[in-house]
Amino acid sequence: MSNEDQKPAEAPIAERGSYRSHRPHGPKFLAYISANWADRDNSLPARAEMAPMAKARRALVADKFAGKVVLIHSGAMKQRSNDTEYRYRPHAAFTHLTGWGSVTVPDSVLVIDTRHSTQTVYLRETAGRDSEEFYANSAIGEFWLGPRPTLAQVSALLDIDTKALGELDDFRAGLHDSEVLTLENEELVEFLSEMRFVKDALEIAEMRKAVAASVKGFEEVAKNLHLAVGHHRGERVVETSFFSQARIEGYDLGYETIAAAGHHACILHWMVNDGPIKDGDLLLLDAGVEVDSLYTADITRTIPVNGKYTEAQRRVYDAVLKAADAVFAIAKPGLAFRELHAEAMRVIAETVAEWGFIKISPEESLKPENQLHRRWMVHGTSHHLGLDVHDCAQAKRDLYLDQVLTPGMIFTIEPGLYFQPDDLMVPAELRGIGVRIEDNVLVTETGVENLSAALPRTAVEVEKWLAKLS
Ligand code: GLY
Ligand code: MN
Ligand code: MN
Repeated sequence: MSNEDQKPAEAPIAERGSYRSHRPHGPKFLAYISANWADRDNSLPARAEMAPMAKARRALVADKFAGKVVLIHSGAMKQRSNDTEYRYRPHAAFTHLTGWGSVTVPDSVLVIDTRHSTQTVYLRETAGRDSEEFYANSAIGEFWLGPRPTLAQVSALLDIDTKALGELDDFRAGLHDSEVLTLENEELVEFLSEMRFVKDALEIAEMRKAVAASVKGFEEVAKNLHLAVGHHRGERVVETSFFSQARIEGYDLGYETIAAAGHHACILHWMVNDGPIKDGDLLLLDAGVEVDSLYTADITRTIPVNGKYTEAQRRVYDAVLKAADAVFAIAKPGLAFRELHAEAMRVIAETVAEWGFIKISPEESLKPENQLHRRWMVHGTSHHLGLDVHDCAQAKRDLYLDQVLTPGMIFTIEPGLYFQPDDLMVPAELRGIGVRIEDNVLVTETGVENLSAALPRTAVEVEKWLAKLS
């Protein structure tokens, strides 16, 4: 047999991403690699704690969309380049309705068939060791990505029927389009988003874990601050200190970390994080750990990197804290969600009026047609938080804003003041100072519990905390 005969046919362009892997091939090799493997562990796992809650959520969906077949895709691995992919994150709706977290098998599909009152997860079955997929497919092969659970194991874990993904096409072919609902259907997406407003006890427990892991991340940053100050990319030192805890304690970040030193703090979603950190700077760190169940925190602290706020920094800090405290003071069941922001805006408007930055009264500025104070805080004060950092975002806008606070809701309180370095409307000493204080709160029967209270909030507490950890 000549060398030419052994050469595989030229692959189509679309399949050429993995030349570097030099995968072996051929029937002789397949026979060899297929043989002599010990039996796998097919024992069944215990039912996931979240499984009964997920089942109850599916029942709500089934009730709402009676007569329909609801298909919720977990989503595919997202390509980064050629045959390398980003870390997998299933769609939050799929996670919410299955309770399957970070270990979800990509491309899984939840089917809620209300016609027959069945609920099934279709997932890619384990491939036998005699398949090419097993050793030669870097996208899904278990030699490449690790073992996949069996259908029976997933069924036991999630307490739901499971079927092989290969059967889904036939099932789908038997359905009329008019009876199928997917995440392209707005009414479904809206409903799934709105049913996440109030968290159940297990979700609250997961949120506590996410916050606790994030607190560790902030502490890690404080401990390593001496490495960041003076470093030509000090913001990256901060970002990676936090990230280490995100991966060690959780699954990932809930969103890209904002590590903003000096005037970068005035860029609301500064994620480049390639700046230096200088003695005397404030560092605005907005970061959250997403735990294995995929719930995330979203916390911000603005800290003086040398341990002490300057007089000007502290003035701005105290004003932001006053706005946050005012929101904390009114947040309780029965209050409309939109009142949280209105309260923060009241304090911000009063502050900038008192400091002489607006020439009209705070009352005038607060009128919808004026809003001059918003120059220094253009973002909202609160958003729901859960599986997504901006949770429930597909809810109807009026419902999101008008709903009254209800025990079990979790949201942020995050006022800020940002004086851009080139803002000629404020005194030079304030230019380049940006402060945000962001906490994650749970609505209780009587008010709110600050889930992120383990991190210091007042200027004095922040300074003490830095002294202790540095
Ligand atoms: N981290 C983005 C936000 O605070 O909403
Ligand atoms: Mn944030
Ligand atoms: Mn936020």
